[in-house]
Amino acid sequence: MSKGPKTLRHYLQFSDFSAEEYGYLFERAALIKRKFKAYEKHHSLVDRTLAMIFEKASTRTRVSFEAGMYQLGGSVVHLTTGDSQLGRAEPIEDSAKVISRMVDLVMIRTYEQTKIERFATHSRVPVINGLTNEFHPCQILADIFTYIEHRGDIRGKTVAWVGDGNNMANTWLQAAELLGFTVHVSTPRGYEVDQDVAGIRSSESYKIFSDPHEACAGADLVTTDVWTSMGFEAENEARKKAFADWCVDAPMMAMAKPDALFMHCLPAHRGEEVEAEVIDGPQSVVWDEAENRMHVQKALMEYLLLGKL
Ligand code: CP
Ligand code: NVA
Repeated sequence: MSKGPKTLRHYLQFSDFSAEEYGYLFERAALIKRKFKAYEKHHSLVDRTLAMIFEKASTRTRVSFEAGMYQLGGSVVHLTTGDSQLGRAEPIEDSAKVISRMVDLVMIRTYEQTKIERFATHSRVPVINGLTNEFHPCQILADIFTYIEHRGDIRGKTVAWVGDGNNMANTWLQAAELLGFTVHVSTPRGYEVDQDVAGIRSSESYKIFSDPHEACAGADLVTTDVWTSMGFEAENEARKKAFADWCVDAPMMAMAKPDALFMHCLPAHRGEEVEAEVIDGPQSVVWDEAENRMHVQKALMEYLLLGKL
C-alpha cells in the first residue's frame, strides 16, 4: 500500500465526499486537464497500480481509467468475470483481500451496490465505483465538471432528468442534495426514483413531473440515459413501450433555458431516449462529458492515494 492519507477512503457513491472535497477535485481536474492538453508530464502515481474489475461491458470507463492511470505514471490490471475466479464463485471477500494486497487502487463495475460495499469492507486499498445498478458517481463527477467548464457554478441551477429512475438518476439526486442544485425528474410510471435507494435525506432538492416537457421547463441542463440499463435486458420490450414519450427531442429542449446544455453519459440510442438532432446538435456537450471522465478520475485516483496536493 502506498503512502498517503492516514484513513482509507473509498468512492462508492457520490455522497462519500463533501462539497468542499468536490471543490478541490474540480480545481485539480482542471489543472490536470490543462497539463494534459499542453503535453506536460503529470506523474503523481508512479509505480502505483490500479486493478479494474468489470462484471459489465464498458468503453468509456475502461479507456478513461486505463489511459488516465498510465498518464499518471502508474499501471493497470484488467479483470473481468469471464477471465478471473470472480466468475467461478470465489467469494468477493476473498477476492478483495487478495487483490488489495497487490495493487494500490481498485475500480469495480458490477451489479448490486452491496457487492462493491462488501469488496470495500475487505479491501486494504481505496475502491472506486465504476458503475453499479444503483449508482454511477464517476460519471456525475465528470458531468458536473463539464457543466462548470461550460457554464460555471452549478449551485442554484436546475437539471432536468428525463427517463429511467436508474443509477444515473440516483446519483444526480445525491449530487443535488450535496452541491445545492435542483433536479426535475420525469420517468414513466413504474420506473420512478426511490429516495431510499438514492440514499438522500430529503425531497427538497428534487421535484417529480409526470410530463417530461414540464420537467424541462426552465432547466439549465437536460439529461437522459438509455431506457434499458445493463442487467435489465430482459425488460427491453416492455421498456420500449413504457418510455416512448420520454425521448429528448427539439420541442423538449425548447422548454429549457435558451442556453441549456444537453448531456448523456453514453452509449446512446438515437431515436429512443434522444433524437439525433439533440445529441448531435449545438447544445450537446456529450463528447466533452466523455473526455472529462478521464480528467476527473485522474484527480480522484490521486486524491484517494495522496490526499490534497
Ligand atoms: N458512460 C459510461 O460509463 O460508459 P461505458 O459504459 O462505455 O463505460
Ligand atoms: N444506466 C446505464 C449507464 C451506462 C453507462 C447502465 O447502467 O447501463
